[in-house]
Amino acid sequence: MSDSGARQCVGVLRETAPGETRVALTPAVLPDLAKSGFSVVVQEGAGEAAGYPDAAFVERGAKIVATRGAVLEKSQIVVAVRAAGANPAWSDADAAGFTSGQTLIALCDPLSGAAASAALAPRGIQLFALEMIPRITRAQAMDVLSSMALIAGYKAVLLAASGLPRMFPMFMTAAGTVQPARVFVVGAGVAGLQAIATACRLGAVVHAYDVRPTVKDEVKSVGGKFLELPLDTQGAAGAGGYASAMDESFYRRQQELMAQAVSGSDVVITTAVIPGKPAPRLITRAMVEEMQPGSIVIDLAAERGGNCEATVPGENTRVGGATVMGPTNLPAMVPYHASQLFSKNVAAFVKHIFAKGPSAINYSDEIVRETLICRGGELVHPKVGERLGAKVTMTLDL
Ligand code: NAI
Repeated sequence: MSDSGARQCVGVLRETAPGETRVALTPAVLPDLAKSGFSVVVQEGAGEAAGYPDAAFVERGAKIVATRGAVLEKSQIVVAVRAAGANPAWSDADAAGFTSGQTLIALCDPLSGAAASAALAPRGIQLFALEMIPRITRAQAMDVLSSMALIAGYKAVLLAASGLPRMFPMFMTAAGTVQPARVFVVGAGVAGLQAIATACRLGAVVHAYDVRPTVKDEVKSVGGKFLELPLDTQGAAGAGGYASAMDESFYRRQQELMAQAVSGSDVVITTAVIPGKPAPRLITRAMVEEMQPGSIVIDLAAERGGNCEATVPGENTRVGGATVMGPTNLPAMVPYHASQLFSKNVAAFVKHIFAKGPSAINYSDEIVRETLICRGGELVHPKVGERLGAKVTMTLDL
């Protein structure tokens, strides 16, 4: 219950982004939210595309309302999968439905799409961006990016396996031996490790490379072989399990050293990313041209500019005999489980921030500070301000 004793209402919006099938909260988390003092209203049909009908929400205590306007009218806290800069269909009309003091929690791409997030400030919306949740132990249960990256790594392998004119496992049959597929994964973070594990389970021979030497053991533990490259990776490991940016000459040398691994693979899955920066270019068009006909490159960094020179976000591109795929929303292809994990993360976030009531939010808490983008009519996040050329000083008397 909140500090005033009243239940706080959490509103779940039906997604409007093209191709978005996930829902921000699923019925399973509602009893736990109720215990923590929250009631929930859901826009009609919000969970349908993910496999959660309205009746399942009602069974767990939610109220279904017909329109987006009704959700906004009833809720103090509004949750969505994608809003502002993370939703290409987002317009001023979407923001106009909010009232001053209302909270919005969603993926909103506050760094690349800073202007769209900042535009919510003058409306008095308290905006929390889920992408900004710090990768610290305390926030693990809220980390939507890791949950979604895990799904993307898994699904990327399945896409490759079904598109490849070869099979993944080795078969020894009376008709001869089928050699296993060779998979090369670049970047062994959350998505990369899941891609390695999934490809191994399907029987492929999997190699992986990452600039952070500490991941070698993790690659081995999920069944992959770490590709050793003679690169000086000192300084490549940044804070929170993320990589730091290296200079152009490093990436050129990396391309040269990886060329053979790429041309010798049937499938290459790239996941390399540096937080807040464009994705490093690691695979050139010429490298793809050297691959065998029918080979597949899946570039998970497509949305951030791509790890491969030939990547077009959201499209499949033929390069020589190979195909380069740039999927931008793989979790939406597995909406049931993607929503289940997303919802658990969002519920943990809502409880962390609001469980003591709307006027008892701890604004000096690291998780709150890192995710809060707008409040009290102001843009309050220094990194988002930087993107817009505005100096923002975070003050604790917010
Ligand atoms: P992560 O930060 O856990 O992993 C990225 C890895 O890349 C790190 O281990 C880092 O050390 C490594 N790396 C950085 N520079 C490298 C280089 N030059 N060579 C080799 N490795 C390098 O990130 P996470 O969560 O695994 O996400 C990976 C990518 O997948 C991100 O771009 C993310 O946006 C994307 N993603 C894409 C989805 C889609 O549907 N396309 C869905 C979810 C995530």
